[in-house]
Amino acid sequence: MLTERTTLVQFLIEERRRHPGASGELNSLILDVALACKAIANRVASGALGGALGSAGQVNVQGETQQKLDILANDYFVRATEWCGDVAGMVSEELDDPYLLPDGYPRGKYLLVFDPLDGSSNIDVNVSVGSIFSILRAPNPGIDPVRDDFLQRGTEQVCAGYAIYGPSTMIVLSVGTGVHAFTLDPNLGEFFLTRESIKIPAAAKEFAINASNQRFWEPAVQRYVSECLAGKSGPRQRDFNMRWVASLVAETHRILTRGGIFLYPRDSRAPAKAGKLRLLYEANPIAFLIEQAGGAASTGRQRMLDVVPSDIHQRISFIFGPSEEVARIEEYHDQPYEPPTTLPLYKTRGLFREEVS
Ligand code: F6P
Ligand code: MN
Repeated sequence: MLTERTTLVQFLIEERRRHPGASGELNSLILDVALACKAIANRVASGALGGALGSAGQVNVQGETQQKLDILANDYFVRATEWCGDVAGMVSEELDDPYLLPDGYPRGKYLLVFDPLDGSSNIDVNVSVGSIFSILRAPNPGIDPVRDDFLQRGTEQVCAGYAIYGPSTMIVLSVGTGVHAFTLDPNLGEFFLTRESIKIPAAAKEFAINASNQRFWEPAVQRYVSECLAGKSGPRQRDFNMRWVASLVAETHRILTRGGIFLYPRDSRAPAKAGKLRLLYEANPIAFLIEQAGGAASTGRQRMLDVVPSDIHQRISFIFGPSEEVARIEEYHDQPYEPPTTLPLYKTRGLFREEVS
């Protein structure tokens, strides 16, 4: 293995050589994140034998029940990175407020933002889960950050990535020079580069959405999905397949591997919330990867990475996939659409009257 493959360490050092001014702090932070991910992978893989399955009996700031593994994963992220002098502060899905480093640890020049265990409702059923992370520059390096310091556009990310804990454990990341995937060799405890410069396949054949929310969707999403469902006989003139793992990381990994489109749109269930997924530690890092892989990521109305965050736990509507497909959905958001009153859809609108009359 060592003679044939590039390790994550080697990859990062070679990337750094392209930036003669780089100090190595970013690399060291990424490697500490990778260590946290290895520790989480171990606990996830132990399942019931690890004694960490089930609910922790408390609710986080999002109003979601925390799993024991959510809390453990959060601790691994914090403990693996707080001491090193590379971060100034952190924001986690599991913590109400930004995490301030304990006294005695030097404050570094980066901010770390993460979802320690994404899709954690899947743990008990032994389906893939993951961790998502994003690294930003601290506006004031060397001192504790304030809440507003984290409210940076996604375009400002220095590094973004996720770990997926599936049949194999992988880290997929970008430091702004493409998207690269590393697979953990559990015997050596080392990540090896297994896919370089990942590109999203241009044609989407699959869409991913939680269809149980259909009655709450906006017209643009109703239209897009009904056109996919209409398949060959609809305006798209081809059949689509549908997938929903309910794990953003697993969904992203599938789309980066074999293509497709993801939608967790804004809906009318909770008008105060713009969507379900969180901007800083879910949508932005995934959007960064998707753009780096040649795709597009949007709220439906604007490029995700251009959104100016207003809160560290802000929720947002999230759509990503091949650029053409995302552009189509954005266009639908600009156009008026009257959902048909009876099914099947295209019979009543007269679009395909010749087929149905
Ligand atoms: O973190 C939120 C999350 O678990 C994502 O991983 C996933 O995409 C989504 O929620 C699933 O939502 P739902 O339970 O509505 O299908
Ligand atoms: Mn999540």
